[in-house]
Amino acid sequence: MKRLASADRVFILTGAGISAESGIPTFRGVNGLWRNYRIEEVASPEAWHRDPRLVWEFYSMRRRVAAAAKPNAGHFALSKLGDTIGDKLLLCTQNVDDLHEQAGSRNVVHMHGELFKSRCDTCSRPPFPDSETYDPPAEIPRCHCGGRIRPHICWFGEIPFHMDRIYENLQRCTAFIAIGTSGQVEPAATFAAAVGDHARSIYIGPEEPANASTFTEVILGKAGDVLPSLLDGGD
Ligand code: APR
Repeated sequence: MKRLASADRVFILTGAGISAESGIPTFRGVNGLWRNYRIEEVASPEAWHRDPRLVWEFYSMRRRVAAAAKPNAGHFALSKLGDTIGDKLLLCTQNVDDLHEQAGSRNVVHMHGELFKSRCDTCSRPPFPDSETYDPPAEIPRCHCGGRIRPHICWFGEIPFHMDRIYENLQRCTAFIAIGTSGQVEPAATFAAAVGDHARSIYIGPEEPANASTFTEVILGKAGDVLPSLLDGGD
């Protein structure tokens, strides 16, 4: 990959792969989460309506796993890039863990929500920090409005967050770099195809993603191995 120039406006998209070296399972790889849980049973509005306790059991397990994880060299490389190029970087993640923030990245755009936040499923109260675990037989926490407290996660069938800001930055960026995402879930899977003609698009991961043909370049390697040298230095 040609080195990033100081004039580059960089859009970084991360997926579960960047947290894999921190011990957080991906979704579709070996031991992936969707090998052990059915999406429709734990990560959809219908699942929440049908069995909110099972949904909280799933997200409580994910909170415990993420709370024990530490950022890896890939997260720190992106944090350092942010320190170097400032507001010329937009870091967008599909991940709901907080490892980018723990590594020092700021203004992270969590398009699928945040694991350590919850919100009311009824009123418009803003999402709030919540690292509690609610395993059965714990009661489903209630809002003062009477609604049930749910994980602040974008479930299948719901609209991801910050999409206007994401598409605006996709159009303005000169370098789009996707890291650790299998390219199987919309809308992130078509971000590379949505950048302007003037931008280059690079994928970084140990295996080709399903949308590899939409990138100008694919770099095979693990995030923790590749990112520190790849992103170091400007012109
Ligand atoms: N470094 C970089 N990439 C890695 C690493 C690593 N060390 N290990 C695995 N990967 C790659 C895999 O090759 C795979 O392409 O990470 C990708 C993980 O793909 P998925 O498990 O499909 O995760 P992701 O693409 O983030 O899923 C997108 O799907 O289930 C929904 O909302 C959930 O945000 C998630 C979305």
